[in-house]
Formats: sequence, C-alpha cells, structure tokens
Amino acid sequence: MSRIPIIAGNWKMHKTPEQAVAFVQELAPLIEPYGNVDRVVAPTFLALGAVAAALEGSVVKVAAQDAHWEASGAYTSQVSAAMAQPFVDYVIIGHSECRAYLNESDDNVNKKAKAILACGLRPIIAVGESLAQNEAGETVEFVRSQVSAALDGISADELQRVVIAYEPIWAIGTGRSASGEQADGIISAAVRDTVRALYGDASADALRIQYGGSVKPGNMQEFMSQPNIDGALVGGASLQSADFAALVEIASRVKGL
Ligand code: PGA
Repeated sequence: MSRIPIIAGNWKMHKTPEQAVAFVQELAPLIEPYGNVDRVVAPTFLALGAVAAALEGSVVKVAAQDAHWEASGAYTSQVSAAMAQPFVDYVIIGHSECRAYLNESDDNVNKKAKAILACGLRPIIAVGESLAQNEAGETVEFVRSQVSAALDGISADELQRVVIAYEPIWAIGTGRSASGEQADGIISAAVRDTVRALYGDASADALRIQYGGSVKPGNMQEFMSQPNIDGALVGGASLQSADFAALVEIASRVKGL
C-alpha cells in the first residue's frame, strides 16, 4: 500500500497576511517539483484568502488551523469550516495548543472533523500525549482514546480524507523530538491499529499518519524512513523556506513513490 506523504507547515500565530503571501511566493517554486508529496501551508485565518489567491493554480494547498463545527451562528471569535471552505483543502484540528489553551475537547474535535468532512475538506487531526503521560507509560492507551473519540461516527468512505498527526506534546517546539523508531511504534500501535480495529485492514493501511514535534531537516530522514510515518506536521521549521523545501525534498527522496 503506497500512501502519498504529506508535509504540512503549521505557522501558528506567525506571519501577517503580507508576510504569508511573500513567503508562499518564495516557497512554491522550491517545492513544486516534488509531485510525489502533498504540500500544505496553514497560515493564520486572516491570511487564508490572500494565500489561496497567491497559490491559485499551484500544487501547494492551504489549510486552516481550526474550524468551528457549526456553519454559522452566535460563536464570537470563531470561524466555521463552511467559511474557510472556499480557501482551503485541509483543516488542522485537535492541536495540543488548542487542547491546552482553548479547551479543545475530544468531543469538539469529533464535531469539527464531521463538519470539515461535510464541507468536502480534509481534517488533519492532531493527537499526542503529555510528558507526564509518556513517563507514566500511558501513551498508547491515551492516544488510542483520542483517535477513537475523534473518529466516532465517521464512515470508512470519509476516513479516506482524514489525516492523523501524532505529536507528542513534549516534543512540540522544544527541540526534543521522539526517535523515529519510538514514534513509529506509537503510531503503529496507537493510531494505525486503532483504525484497523474500527475500520479493518484496507482503511488502516490507506490512512496517512504524520509525525509532528520538532521536525527539522536534520531529523526528517529518520522519521521518513519509518514504515508507518507518512509525512510531518511542522511548526518552527516550516517558517523558513529553505528548511520547508528541504523537508519536502527528503520526504520525496526517502518515500520515493
Ligand atoms: P514544532 O511544532 O515543529 O515547532 O515542534 C509542531 C506542531 O506544533 O505542529
């Protein structure tokens, strides 16, 4: 089963609309040649329109960093999947920063995933354990529960548009990444096997699962060499065009589809 690797740059609260447009104009020509990799940038909501316009006709796709499950309504500060839909192909949900600072719950992640799928978009669902959970040996059980909760009520057909990002919280923005083998083992046991139990072999084998947490050009080869890792969700290193391009080049070369 060959899965097209997917590299997504999560810019978090970085880059103004003007900076984001200038950045994609510089980045796109560097990463366009690698057709065997899906390439995605996730700017601030404010920049989605301008970045989508700048990337019109490009193979580089745009993601929103979140989306509310209702299409519209009295939800001050929120942006719905339906509102983001004209500009994006993907929406990141369940990021640990949203879970930690914005009270994102498993139930909300599930409702968001369904709304994103109903809009014809692709959710990138982030899961991952804290340092305390990791040290207590609770990682697999915890990540399994996040995956099952996020996918509750999602059909096998819809699952084909889902990407899951395994991001150990202790590795995000810390410079401290999991080892490739460690990440592969958790992804296999806690993500792919959970999906296997819920949906069967074909769905599990087709599911794309990213690793995230301090991914950079220097460790990308190690992650991409793992059989269960199909790309990366990247924060810091996605803010520099040379680093972003290096990550795409390594994924393209190592996965070599
Ligand atoms: P990082 O962020 O690459 O800066 O660790 C990853 C993420 O938050 O998705």
